[in-house]
Amino acid sequence: MHRGLIAPGALAVAFLLPAIPASAAGASPGAPGIGDPYYPAYGNGGYDVSHYDLRLKYRPDTDRLQGTATILARTTRDLSRFNLDFLLDVGEVRVNGAKASFTTSGEHELEVTPERPLRKGDPVTVVVRYSGVPSQQQAYGFTSWHRTPDGGVAANEPEAAWWWFPSNDHPLDKATYDVSVLVPDGTQAISNGTLQSTRSRLGWTRWNWRSAQPQASYLATLAVGRFDVTTGTTESGIPVVNAYSRDLGAHDGAARASVERTGEIADWLSEYFGPYPYDALGGYVPNTDTGYALETQTRPFYSPRQFADGSNVSVVVHELAHQWYGDLVSVRGWRDIWINEGFARYAQWLWSEHEGEGTAQELADHVYASRPADDPFWTVRPGDPGPENQFHLAVYDRGALALQALRNEIGDTAFFAVLKGWPRKYAHGNASVADFRRYAEEVSGKPLAALFDTWLYEPAKPSAPAARAASV
Ligand code: ARG
Ligand code: ZN
Repeated sequence: MHRGLIAPGALAVAFLLPAIPASAAGASPGAPGIGDPYYPAYGNGGYDVSHYDLRLKYRPDTDRLQGTATILARTTRDLSRFNLDFLLDVGEVRVNGAKASFTTSGEHELEVTPERPLRKGDPVTVVVRYSGVPSQQQAYGFTSWHRTPDGGVAANEPEAAWWWFPSNDHPLDKATYDVSVLVPDGTQAISNGTLQSTRSRLGWTRWNWRSAQPQASYLATLAVGRFDVTTGTTESGIPVVNAYSRDLGAHDGAARASVERTGEIADWLSEYFGPYPYDALGGYVPNTDTGYALETQTRPFYSPRQFADGSNVSVVVHELAHQWYGDLVSVRGWRDIWINEGFARYAQWLWSEHEGEGTAQELADHVYASRPADDPFWTVRPGDPGPENQFHLAVYDRGALALQALRNEIGDTAFFAVLKGWPRKYAHGNASVADFRRYAEEVSGKPLAALFDTWLYEPAKPSAPAARAASV
């Protein structure tokens, strides 16, 4: 064949190729991480989940969890395969009804290859059948599934989902949830949102929970054990469901005296942050010795240790403040943790002020004065603390100090307008520290870059304490 004709001939063939679907030609694997610089492997690329339906069975005696996750998602690009984050043993995966092949990789990746590539923008239904003993699964050397004498509980930040359901595990991908858990009669299953129903049959009881508003995967929680469940209603009409392990021993009274005030606290916080954003509310206290509490959406997790010295309403204020600051408006990336913790701590200071136990200014002055300039506390930058210092006390205390400095700079009227406006502006979404600075500048009409630098980004003790406002 004449050489000169080869190229044009090939071109003509290429031109006719559109007979092959674009999805097959252009599809490539979805990223194994969503692109968070602190945690490159967390979350996944290429799709967006709208709903998780988790139908589970759990045996407290053996800690065995089994079930089916049905995940409704939409692709954001052509995909030859995609990842979920998960640790338990997978028996079968189906994508749009057809069996898909799967394999595991990395610390917590489940790689799914559908029979046919997926086209950008298409709805996709993923069914994952699985089982395992969550307390025996580790990633990076730890487990977030806390075994209790009568069951277990999944609660940690940022990692909690891998031990009980496959997910796109990053706050950027929020979704609604139905969590249905079968447990032996006499045992309770506690999760987020509203208890739709319970049904008993053959010695097992099914607990059906629904989270009707979008929720980040780390804010989904499951606890199984013997709980005492209490109910109430807030002034504004939100139903409150709390649950206490029947095994809290000496901590039982203090736990109830604190968590039973959930409705009252949510009403009080709504005066600062705007209406409570969800249709369900509560708290639960399983019998674990975990050191932290967690703002699991609508129903925070509290450890009995929080109540070791007696009632602790302050921790309830903290976790409920997160319902607006953290849950309704979530971090864009984990480096933005200050937009959660700085504000939840500041809410505790406002509560202290309300209770006549010291004003926010007094508490700010105390944090400033009690730590000398050479205290390593001041080397942590709350605006970008690094993954190793994500929950360092500086993110909380210096983080709240930064808010007191902001309050003094822009005055009470603008400050409280910012506190109330922010959750509405970014409701059910994500935002960064820079977004918050821009918003505070917009509301107050003041440039704030220098103030944010001093209080959130300088790895040193600011030279002057948060100055008091002249008068507002
Ligand atoms: N957001 C939680 C709180 O402040 C902190 C969770 C800390 N997590 C941890 N593994 N230490 O209430
Ligand atoms: Zn917190």
